[in-house]
Amino acid sequence: MAGLAAPLAPAFAAGVDRIEAGDRLADEDGEGAPVALTPADIPAGKTLLAFPFDPASGQRRDGTRLNKVLLMRLPEGELDADTRGRSAGGVVAYSAICTHQGCDLKTWSAKEQLVVCFCHSSKFDIKDSGAVAGGPAPRSLPNLPLRLEGGQLVVAGPFSATPGGMVS
Ligand code: FES
Repeated sequence: MAGLAAPLAPAFAAGVDRIEAGDRLADEDGEGAPVALTPADIPAGKTLLAFPFDPASGQRRDGTRLNKVLLMRLPEGELDADTRGRSAGGVVAYSAICTHQGCDLKTWSAKEQLVVCFCHSSKFDIKDSGAVAGGPAPRSLPNLPLRLEGGQLVVAGPFSATPGGMVS
């Protein structure tokens, strides 16, 4: 039916690993055994895309792009209370999949202080729980709570909502 939106990637396929509490995060471009990221590994003023991995087995949970995580380190004083509560060492984590039609998100607009989708210009405020700040995205960016353990960024719980975009 025209005008109705349907999920682009409605669910995790059976057998595909989902992010789990206790997972560490590794640079998506990293090669070889995954290396757990720390806040200092997140460059100032830039986003970094990461995949979770099981610290016990070293297994990357990269069987689905829905597990891709956008990380950014921001001054904690600029984060709203909820976002600050989910952050670790000033690092915030969100789904890296646009909630409009599922493009990868990576672009940070320093001028607007927003994450911008290059496909149709949706904008997300990652200082304010991933709220939509412009464009056609129908919902906030799912956030991922973090904590620190031994200086490493650790996943503290599931995404706040199912990651993925919608198609019309
Ligand atoms: S897919 Fe991101 S704005 Fe359309």
